[in-house]
Amino acid sequence: MNDDSLQSVAAKSIIVAAALLIIWMGKRCAFHSRSTDLIASSSKSKSAPRTNATATEAPFDNLADVYDSSFCHTTVGRLLRHQTWKDLDEAFATSKFKSKPAAPILEIGCGTGDDALHLASQHVYVLATDYSKGMIRKARKKCSSNTTVPRGCQPTFKKLDLRDSHYDVSLEPIHKFAGAYCNFGGLNNLSPEDIGHLANELSELIYPGGKVVLVVMGRFCLFETLYYLWKCNFKRAFRRLERSQNAGIAARVAPNTKKQTVYFYSPGFMEKTFTDTSQFCVIRKRAIGLTLPPSLWSRSSSKKMHPSLLSFLSWVDSMMSGYWPFFYFGDHFLIEFKRL
Ligand SMILES: C[S@@+](CC[C@H](N)C(=O)[O-])C[C@H]1O[C@@H](n2cnc3c(N)ncnc32)[C@H](O)[C@@H]1O
Repeated sequence: MNDDSLQSVAAKSIIVAAALLIIWMGKRCAFHSRSTDLIASSSKSKSAPRTNATATEAPFDNLADVYDSSFCHTTVGRLLRHQTWKDLDEAFATSKFKSKPAAPILEIGCGTGDDALHLASQHVYVLATDYSKGMIRKARKKCSSNTTVPRGCQPTFKKLDLRDSHYDVSLEPIHKFAGAYCNFGGLNNLSPEDIGHLANELSELIYPGGKVVLVVMGRFCLFETLYYLWKCNFKRAFRRLERSQNAGIAARVAPNTKKQTVYFYSPGFMEKTFTDTSQFCVIRKRAIGLTLPPSLWSRSSSKKMHPSLLSFLSWVDSMMSGYWPFFYFGDHFLIEFKRL
């Protein structure tokens, strides 16, 4: 048997093993909890309206109070975040930045600030931004009660809407950054045109050689699909693929909030949009949350699954997530660019 056929046999066995594991877990646990499935009540967006600030700001403000308890502080949430910290540390917490930061790192869609605080604890100064006042308030509170961050490395939190025409107006007085990142779906509320605009703005803001790390909800989540197929819910099983990337689906980000348009993107779309600016090249792609349950079910699955099983699944993810075809199959994918 040659190397290629060995590789394909290994890949097929892993897919079959993952499928069996997920089906077995689906049988044991009813992950699907209405209150924590933040985009549970998704439906087709008839006209796929372009998002606007008034329509989408409130949902994330409402989510701010429960975001930590429903995701960040759950076992699954922590394990998923640790998967991304490996790449964030490699991209930004190098000795080059530790000794004397060349410029701040820009975080977009920072939520309640866990990543900015993590990088701060490694002497990396982050200017963290979000368009939700509620999220920024929570992040500032978390930061002020954190005593472990080294002096002078406290992140700054600022309001920035990624659909603004010129980011530098909101980011004043800082005009250049050593890198940028956006974790856990901060870009999934942006339309394809907004993503193109973001790529152009970042090409202006990031110094040559700087890294941009994006963690985006993908178009096919193996765990979610197998789980809903097991439940014979075919519509949900393929909901991410139901419409084209340009259309999006209408969904709630928190219970009792208005629906807004959510877009599921492929790694290929992100790669094309950023490389089309001629200012970025791709240096890494991998899945985040491959055999671990998806982020939207983090609270229910953290309660129902043993922590050591979850740690094992996270280890399986770390072994497989960087290889083709697995980086297409995660709940999120991570894509890293270098500014040329
Ligand atoms: C799912 S949360 C992720 C938060 C954080 N990055 C994390 O890792 O936990 C998505 C975040 O993106 C922010 N966001 C969504 N659309 C945005 C926009 N147009 N401009 C700025 N922030 C946005 C939301 O307010 C929310 O805090």
